[in-house]
Amino acid sequence: MTASTFLFRGAAVPFRPGETIAAALTAAGLRTFGLDPAGRETRYFCGIGACQACLVRVDGVLVEACLTPARADGRVEPAEDRHDRS
Ligand code: FES
Repeated sequence: MTASTFLFRGAAVPFRPGETIAAALTAAGLRTFGLDPAGRETRYFCGIGACQACLVRVDGVLVEACLTPARADGRVEPAEDRHDRS
């Protein structure tokens, strides 16, 4: 069976059904998810949507990676990155 993947900074990241973006990125060995709009490093911290430390953009929309289910073929970028690379 082929694992589902989404793209983070253009690289395929595998995920299990129901897994959040933050869990999948962490399982892939990423300790930070890039910078947020204020220039701070983002990361998986509270896991409940309270701290906003895990902000990323999914298809250009700012979301909490710890609350957002991974979606096959979704395009995930650091929160600071507002440039459309399509
Ligand atoms: S880790 Fe705190 S809001 Fe996502």
